[in-house]
Amino acid sequence: MTAAAHGSLLITNIGELMTQDPGRGPEGVLHQAAVVLEGERISWLGPAAAAPAADAACDAGGRALLPGWVDSHTHLVFAGDRTAEFEARMAGQSYRAGGIAVTVAATRAAGDDELGGLLQARAAEARAGGTTYLETKTGYGLDVAQEARSARIAAAVADQVTFLGAHLVPEGIGADEYTDLVCGDMLAAVRPYVQWADVFCERGAFTEEQSRRVLAACREAGLGLRVHGNQLGEGPGVALAVEFGAASVDHVNYLSDADVELLAGSWASWDAGSGTGERGTVATCLPACDLSTRQPLAPARRLLDAGVEIALASNCNPGTSYTSSMNYCVATAVLQMGLSVHEAVRAATYGGALALGVHTGVDAGGARAVGSIAVGHRADLHLLNAPSATHLAYRPGMPLTAAVWRAGRQVA
Ligand code: NIG
Repeated sequence: MTAAAHGSLLITNIGELMTQDPGRGPEGVLHQAAVVLEGERISWLGPAAAAPAADAACDAGGRALLPGWVDSHTHLVFAGDRTAEFEARMAGQSYRAGGIAVTVAATRAAGDDELGGLLQARAAEARAGGTTYLETKTGYGLDVAQEARSARIAAAVADQVTFLGAHLVPEGIGADEYTDLVCGDMLAAVRPYVQWADVFCERGAFTEEQSRRVLAACREAGLGLRVHGNQLGEGPGVALAVEFGAASVDHVNYLSDADVELLAGSWASWDAGSGTGERGTVATCLPACDLSTRQPLAPARRLLDAGVEIALASNCNPGTSYTSSMNYCVATAVLQMGLSVHEAVRAATYGGALALGVHTGVDAGGARAVGSIAVGHRADLHLLNAPSATHLAYRPGMPLTAAVWRAGRQVA
């Protein structure tokens, strides 16, 4: 199938076109449809019978076409392996934030080329699975030079980069002194490479007060905010995220009624039907991590029913979720979290784009919206080896990704 980057490409005979475009009503699914890609953008979509001519054509053969996955939460800049920790967990040990230190040691020991190569390989693996827009984080460097290096390496590969210096307090420094460093020299060093800041607000990581300081300093530096919260128990993560107007709070395994109400309140002025209004704090659910750490699955159904926008992301990292398979996350969300196929695909596409602030429009730098299939959006598409998206859950674990276009170029 010809890439569209140097001309137009007509993808026709699409059995099910799941646009995830809120402008097209609740489901936004077209049948016997076609899409035209022109350069890096989508220039037309509609009934196949009415499709315009294009420089090249691709017959989808009645298969399903979806937006490419938007993976809004990964930790891909790392070296080393934690198989032993995983085995111990499967034998009954519980996950502890302290395991992060093992990856920090391996990451610090890796050269720039090695670390960059590992990241490139992981990004390629994600693309091969249908991911076309990727966020990744620092957080395995944990000193000024190492965090800056991780941010620089990440920025060369990922679409968006998050500063997670506040991932764990490293050996040899007090928590308050380290928090000062994160808010001061470390933030200044990573600032040129990152759009977002995050803090692991959890017992064993950063307290509410330390998290508050990190969020305030990063907001002051002009970064968008997100929070790792309520992963290992109830705590202040969700409330802090909402208070600071964070774009997302991620993990959300243990939620009180008050947490759900706060999240729902943040979406009070949002119309999910049309995708308009004031955006709140996205609850990012990470099912692969929940299974790998044997935590209860995040209450995605409860959140949706309360009116909270959710995202599904892989959380690919060596400790808690060593997979970038969004197909797997979507299947799990349907099979075990009570989501419909449409809801799960929406959370893994449009929901991720909402969490990263790229669900609509064309920004000043010319970056186009992702996460839904609409005219003018970036041509990020995922052709399934199946007639409908339902097969993602109906045939879990099967190789269902047939082709992937990212910004109009075929990448898988
Ligand atoms: O999102 N929760 C904190 N950070 C990662 C785990 C990192 C690790 O254990 O290496 C997560 O699950």
